[in-house]
Amino acid sequence: MGHCLGILYIEGGYLTEISSEGTKVEHVDYAISPQAHTPMYLMHKFWARKPHNVVGEYIEHYSKKGEIVLDPFVGSGVTAIEALKRGRKAIATDLDPMATFITRINRENL
Ligand SMILES: C[S@@+](CC[C@H](N)C(=O)[O-])C[C@H]1O[C@@H](n2cnc3c(N)ncnc32)[C@H](O)[C@@H]1O
Repeated sequence: MGHCLGILYIEGGYLTEISSEGTKVEHVDYAISPQAHTPMYLMHKFWARKPHNVVGEYIEHYSKKGEIVLDPFVGSGVTAIEALKRGRKAIATDLDPMATFITRINRENL
């Protein structure tokens, strides 16, 4: 994500981060209500599937269009698909070939 080459330090007991562009990183410190899965995420039952809108909001917050989002434990593909939907590039890997298969099928249906 965009700021991953920044600086981390403790300020007033809180972990503070300066981005690679020199600005203080404001973290997501509010609750995001999960929405129901959309049809594309229901073609296959995957118990650990994360809510697409929550993942999507984190991607919006922590990366910019054109940047690369990496998910090495992609599972049902939510992070990769939400990244692509928001104009990011995505790298998605998983130990389980079924996970990358589901992700590939979802990408083809974007
Ligand atoms: C909790 S699921 C991820 C769920 C995903 N965030 C989603 O929303 O669908 C964890 C995934 O990590 C994969 N995994 C576990 N250990 C792994 C490893 N050592 N290397 C790669 N993938 C691994 C599992 O196969 C599983 O698909």
